[in-house]
Amino acid sequence: MTDQTGGNPIAMPDPATKIGISEVLDLSRPREPSRPKIVEFRHVTKTYNAGMPNAFTAIRDVTFSVEDLPDKGEFIAVLGPSGCGKSTILRLIAGLSPQHPPTEGEVLVLNQPVAGPGADRGMVFQDYTSFDHRTVLENITFGLECQGVGRAERNELGRKWVEHVGLKFETDAGKFPHELSGGMRQRVAIARTLILRPRIILMDEPFGALDPQTRMNMQDLLVSLWREVQATVFFVTHSIEEAVFLGDRAYVMGNSPGTILEELRIEPADRPARFMQREPRFLETVNHLRDLISQLEEQKRPERD
Ligand SMILES: Nc1ncnc2c1ncn2[C@@H]1O[C@H](COP(=O)(O)OP(=O)(O)O)[C@@H](O)[C@H]1O
Ligand SMILES: [Mg+2]
Repeated sequence: MTDQTGGNPIAMPDPATKIGISEVLDLSRPREPSRPKIVEFRHVTKTYNAGMPNAFTAIRDVTFSVEDLPDKGEFIAVLGPSGCGKSTILRLIAGLSPQHPPTEGEVLVLNQPVAGPGADRGMVFQDYTSFDHRTVLENITFGLECQGVGRAERNELGRKWVEHVGLKFETDAGKFPHELSGGMRQRVAIARTLILRPRIILMDEPFGALDPQTRMNMQDLLVSLWREVQATVFFVTHSIEEAVFLGDRAYVMGNSPGTILEELRIEPADRPARFMQREPRFLETVNHLRDLISQLEEQKRPERD
């Protein structure tokens, strides 16, 4: 199969091809209409500044669906060259403007069109988004406070989540964000989101600013937390190793206007990141994705609508 993405065609592997710890899925396979979907995109196009001279179509005709698996959410890694619309897709699911609403098509969460942000979706960004004037515990329990949960209950749950994300209650709970390392701040951001038990967790390059060792520790943490919370996770990353380690599925997007070029099913992470990420089958999947994405980066045409 080949795909015309502007420039030279890129050779794409056929569906059902096995590559290392992954398998290529058929993007045009019929979807089971009877199965409940947790997230669905139906022919979604987003044009920023539509109708103006600076109109720019970031994604075009994106269609995919993620099933609502009972007692287990999937971990979906979203990969692609920079500017292909990964954040646009995440923020459309989150219902955040100006990405929301889409210009054309429909974004559905649990079979309902997204109308705006909601408690069923939680987002973790790359930049540390804690409140500077609040302690770790107050940051982690902020969402509960907004929901009107009383102080005692809030602090009890907060204590559990401080420890869940690997911080120490006695020494860390009273610290302010400026007293924390980057890794610790992202632990706070994750706890703050997960404490609210969202069905869908949206993570936009959450570990992009961390050093490699901290990053692997955070990947291991995320695998263990995610098993517990059983949410569906959409995870955007530039690190292909991270996507292959964390993902049950990976979507690879082509250059703007972005659309989904390839979908892989990936074997789950069953060992710590530092062991799994040096195995030959793991690296075979990584190399396949790296080749595809570098070809896409090379093909980038000048931005136009
Ligand atoms: N608010 C906006 N207004 C105009 N253009 C935007 C806006 N947000 C993103 N874009 C453009 O849309 C394209 C996709 O952006 P984005 O989704 O952030 O890509 P990615 O996350 O894959 O790097 C980029 O070319 C970007 O410049
Ligand atoms: Mg982005």
